Amino acid sequence: MQDQILYFLKKSDNYLSGEEISHHLKISRAAVWKYIQELRQEGYDIVAVPHLGYHLVSCPDKLFPREIQFDLKTKIFGRKIFYFDTTTSTMDAAFRLGLEGVQEGTVVCAETQIKGRGRLGRHWVSPKGKGIYVSIILRPSFPPNVVSQLTILSAVAVAEALERAAALKPSIKWPNDLFIRGEKIAGILTELSAEMDRVRFVSIGIGLNVNTPSHLLPPHATSVKVEREKEFSRIDILQEILRRMEFWYEQFKCEGLTAIVERWKQFSMTLGRRICIHDSKGTVEGEAIDLDKDGALLIRTDTGMRIKKMTGDVIFL
Ligand code: BTN
Repeated sequence: MQDQILYFLKKSDNYLSGEEISHHLKISRAAVWKYIQELRQEGYDIVAVPHLGYHLVSCPDKLFPREIQFDLKTKIFGRKIFYFDTTTSTMDAAFRLGLEGVQEGTVVCAETQIKGRGRLGRHWVSPKGKGIYVSIILRPSFPPNVVSQLTILSAVAVAEALERAAALKPSIKWPNDLFIRGEKIAGILTELSAEMDRVRFVSIGIGLNVNTPSHLLPPHATSVKVEREKEFSRIDILQEILRRMEFWYEQFKCEGLTAIVERWKQFSMTLGRRICIHDSKGTVEGEAIDLDKDGALLIRTDTGMRIKKMTGDVIFL
């Protein structure tokens, strides 16, 4: 019921009387008052003026599912959302939920993570209420070896969301780290539950520094707040991420990675650079020359050999 009251308050530019709300929702005015009190306790600033009614002044700075879903207009991404104030890692919760069979597009978000994790066993710093820490569960019908392409897709979606919702110009370091002025602003971690030839589910974890002040950022990292010198709505940015993820995911299912590869190249800070790439097979040095049609990085070594890498950690030389 709180959700419906909020919906009316958000859609109305003016004061809304208790009588109007009670009439629309077929509940008593006393019940309206009780729900308004509950919303205030959750951090909604709602003023009540005699003879005029209620007016929503501001919403709490929380990643509440109802806030994310308000005017989201996606079909898959974010239709179901699990919210945690504190969790170990949204990836842990997503894994449990994935095993339980939650629907595709389910989102797990948290205000803070005690053991936020990054790629290659690194830690993801997750100060409370400052960043976006989410995992999205997908159930693609393609084989496990195609899953790494989803990380390319996700990087493009997050980069576009930053452009649209925060007017920033991010660059992507292969495969899916986002940088601004050489400092990391977001990272993506993809985890998979699969059999030999079938994906059970994929969890795409996105960590984005939004309102993180510089003293809470790890070295060589930045945030939207640091770049734009003002705070941004985490909800607006997360909604845009979910919309862009859905757009590119639909495109990917119909037409593959081609358009996504082209878009990725427009954000690339990797191509044309001298790099060293490290993976389980060892280290390769050379020039990053192209992104292949399957999202792999093509490198030309000093001896002129062309090497294709599906995974790895890139260092700029
Ligand atoms: C990286 O750059 O190494 C990837 C970072 C991914 C961080 C996100 S935050 C939400 C989700 N939960 C985690 O524990 N990690 C991912």
